[in-house]
Amino acid sequence: MTPLFVANWKMHGSRAFIGEWAAAAALPPDGCEVAVCPPLPYLAEARRALPSAFLLGAQTIASQRDDGAHTGEVSGRMLKDLGCAVAIVGHSERRAAQREQDSDCAAKVQAAAAAGLRPILCVGECAATRQKGGSAAAIAAVLAQLDAACARGTDDLWQRLAVAYEPVWAIGSGQTPSADDIRAMHGAIRQRLMQKTKAFGGRIAVLYGGSVSPENAGAFIRIENVNGFLVGGASLAPQTFNAICATAAPL
Ligand code: PGA
Repeated sequence: MTPLFVANWKMHGSRAFIGEWAAAAALPPDGCEVAVCPPLPYLAEARRALPSAFLLGAQTIASQRDDGAHTGEVSGRMLKDLGCAVAIVGHSERRAAQREQDSDCAAKVQAAAAAGLRPILCVGECAATRQKGGSAAAIAAVLAQLDAACARGTDDLWQRLAVAYEPVWAIGSGQTPSADDIRAMHGAIRQRLMQKTKAFGGRIAVLYGGSVSPENAGAFIRIENVNGFLVGGASLAPQTFNAICATAAPL
């Protein structure tokens, strides 16, 4: 499977930052895909500044498929028009701050696929779930999110989908699950995807996200069913992000 590395800049950056980042970023390593997700207003600027070998991505997408009276929303068609190839859906920061529900995520993955984008569906347990119920409870919570967001799976969706396992407590905290916990979670997600679609379940990229750094990426990328990373803080420094992407090179 082609490893996929995604830079999620969150609400950071400026036109000047994009130019500096693009000048310092290494081209995607051979055999890897690298997507950059700047804030929505900077998508066009980023597309101009980045070499075409980089995929462009949006950090969110409207749940409504058709253009219309949806103030503040940005449709999949518009994202595609701006050169996007991927759209992050259901990031835990949006689930918390914008109250995005599983039902919104379901609509958004469909909207992304319908627009010809690849949805990257974020799933992940909160700290209390893992503390109280351990790995089994964490896996159950994550699979429930996956089931809810992909309730209406079609071959078109399965061909486009990527999943990002991002434990909420690991995001921006410097904490990560153990390699064994990541292996168990990614194995469970893979198994569930295989149950949903025999034809495509083995080909859907399952990314890990949450405090990924050049120090831990080399070990994490070698865990079975870890097919790349969704990188937040460490993606803002191009050299650091380059080092993370380079961990895939000898795979
Ligand atoms: P982080 O964020 O790498 O800063 O932990 C990951 C994410 O939120 O996607």
